[in-house]
Amino acid sequence: MATITTRHFLQTTALVLAGLVLAACGKKEPAAPVATAPAAAPVVAVAKVYVVGTDAAYAPFESQNEKGEIVGFDIDVVKAAAQKAGIEVKFLNTPWEGIFNSVAQGDRDLLVSSITITPERQQTLDFSTPYFDAQQLIAVKSDSKIAKFDDLKKLKVGVQNGTTGDEVITKLQGKDSPNVKRFETTPLALKEMEGGGVDAVVADNGVVVHYVNNNPASKFKTIADTSFASEQYGIAVKKGNTELLAKINQGLAGIKDDGTYAKIYAQYFGAAPAAGTASAPAAAASK
Ligand code: ARG
Repeated sequence: MATITTRHFLQTTALVLAGLVLAACGKKEPAAPVATAPAAAPVVAVAKVYVVGTDAAYAPFESQNEKGEIVGFDIDVVKAAAQKAGIEVKFLNTPWEGIFNSVAQGDRDLLVSSITITPERQQTLDFSTPYFDAQQLIAVKSDSKIAKFDDLKKLKVGVQNGTTGDEVITKLQGKDSPNVKRFETTPLALKEMEGGGVDAVVADNGVVVHYVNNNPASKFKTIADTSFASEQYGIAVKKGNTELLAKINQGLAGIKDDGTYAKIYAQYFGAAPAAGTASAPAAAASK
C-alpha cells in the first residue's frame, strides 16, 4: 500500500515537472521528449513557418508573376530578413480589404504590403522599423490640365479603398464626397482612368511610377505635390507579438547592415538607397 502511494506520488511529480518544462518551452516550439531534454539542452523543434499576408496587386512591391508566384521588393526584403533572423516564411495573397483583420485573427502572422505606418494602424497592429520611404503621387492622363493636388477638389479621383491615398483625397474632398471612387486594387483604379471613369488616381509613388512606365499605351503622366506627407512602410504583426517583431527587426537590421537590402533595393529601383532614409543601414539611421 505504502509502495503504491510512493510510486503514485513519484508519477504525479514527474507529470507535474514535465508540464512545467513544457510550459517553460513556450507554445510555439513543440518541446523534444522531456526525459531526454534537460532545461539547458537545445530544444529540437519543428521549425514554424510564419504566414505572411500580402496584397499582391502592387508591383513592384508585391505582385504575382506568370507562374502565380508572389514576387517583388517587399517579398525579397522579408525573405532576406527572415533568413537573417533564422525563421521560415511563406507568402499568401491576401486582399487589402480585411488584410489587417487577417493578422488580428491569427490567419496571418506577418503582413508585408507596402503598408504605411500610421498612428491609427498602430492602435491595432505593431510595426517593424520602417523599411521604405514613400509618398503619394498623382496620376493623370498625359493631356490633363490638372497641375496640383488642390485641383482635385471637385474632380473624380480613383483610389484603392482604405489606403493612405484614400485618406488624403477624402480629407481634401470631405468624407461624403461622391467623387472619391474607391477600388479594390490600385491597378483597377488606374485602369478606370484609361476609360475616363476618373480624372486622377492618387496612390503610392513607387506603384504609380511603375504602372505609368510599364503601360505607355495608357498615356498617363505623374504629378508630384509637396503637400503630401512623407510615409514609411513597415512590416506588421499582431499587436503584442513582440517575439516575432523582434526577430523581424533583427533580420531587417541585419540585411541593412550587410548590404543585402541595398542590393535588393538597387535591383528594383536602380539606385542605392539614400542615407538617412528608412532604407539606410540601421546603424546610420540611428545616428
Ligand atoms: N501605402 C499605402 C497604405 O498603406 C498603400 C498600400 C497598399 N498596398 C497594397 N499592397 N495594395 O495605405
